[in-house]
Amino acid sequence: TKRIFSGIQPTGSIHLGNYLGAIKEWVKLQGEAECPLWSIVDLHAITLPHDHEELRKNIYQMAATLLACGIDPQKSIIFQQSTVSRHTELAWTLGCMLTMKKLALLPQFKEKSETLKNIPVGLYIYPVLQSADILLYKATDVPVGKDQLQHLHLAQHLVHFFNGKYGDTFPVPNPLINESSGSVKSLKDPSKKMSKSDNEKKSLIRLIDEPEIIRKTIKKAVTDFTSEITYEPSSRPGVSNLVLIHSQMLDKSPEVICKEAQGLNTVQYKSLVTDVIIEKLTPIRQEYIRLMSAPDYVNSVLKNGSLRALPLADKCWLEVREKVGFSGGI
Ligand code: TYM
Repeated sequence: TKRIFSGIQPTGSIHLGNYLGAIKEWVKLQGEAECPLWSIVDLHAITLPHDHEELRKNIYQMAATLLACGIDPQKSIIFQQSTVSRHTELAWTLGCMLTMKKLALLPQFKEKSETLKNIPVGLYIYPVLQSADILLYKATDVPVGKDQLQHLHLAQHLVHFFNGKYGDTFPVPNPLINESSGSVKSLKDPSKKMSKSDNEKKSLIRLIDEPEIIRKTIKKAVTDFTSEITYEPSSRPGVSNLVLIHSQMLDKSPEVICKEAQGLNTVQYKSLVTDVIIEKLTPIRQEYIRLMSAPDYVNSVLKNGSLRALPLADKCWLEVREKVGFSGGI
């Protein structure tokens, strides 16, 4: 059977990259397969120094954001990762099947640790926890942005290892990447991806930004000296990023977008893109604001999600326990 799982870190408010690369797809996938699981991965959010009040707030905000974007708790399970302790238990077990060398190769660790003097162990073993998230629900399909591909390959490696040693247990998880999406780039430096951890001002658009902020940010977005609108990500990354965002927002191909934009210069085009973004994001922002003052509802969605995820996780963990030789004791 098809089982869909994905996760998002509750760090700050989400941006267009998260929305177009992941959540928009999640919304579409609801109702397609057996109830998909979407996890707010709070355990992943403590791999870098964090503030506990901030984290508490961010988890709630993420739940409100997912709901505002159209995740439907009738069709999906939304839950907070740390409420299902099997994630960490399975992560430990998988970590013991992995070499340090294999983990050291993963690019996110390199990027994130570059600026750190002291590197937390959690940051290093983060991808193992991510594999555990996926395996725990025997996920077959994992909708993610391109930046998560290596992590998915690690999960696949662990499935092959585990199945090879203990017999068929886990399906090989398949990354679902919206090919046309590529990755959404920073608006200040289109050679980098749009990222929550980017401190550069005006590098990203948050889903809940006011229209005026969106307008200013797009106005300042880095483009080049050609005024024509074309989609050439490698030679014209700035303009192409705007075309990509535009095309994803309207579910049209970049080619169609460019054709429609014929005759516009960059300034005019930016104004068009801005209108499209504002029109799409306004209802989401309004629903988000409503949910921010509906804590009973949002908290009950999270609680229900955990109650539904727990038995699925238990079932898998019992099987793993048995297979690796932990059985007995209870
Ligand atoms: P996170 O929280 O950084 O991002 C959530 C999702 O958004 C996608 N994304 C992007 N897509 C396109 N362009 C961008 N600029 C961009 N930035 C982010 C990410 O690819 C991701 O799909 N490790 C994961 C969370 C996680 C997870 C999991 C995902 C934990 N366990 C299990 C899948 C399965 C992360 O940090 O995503």
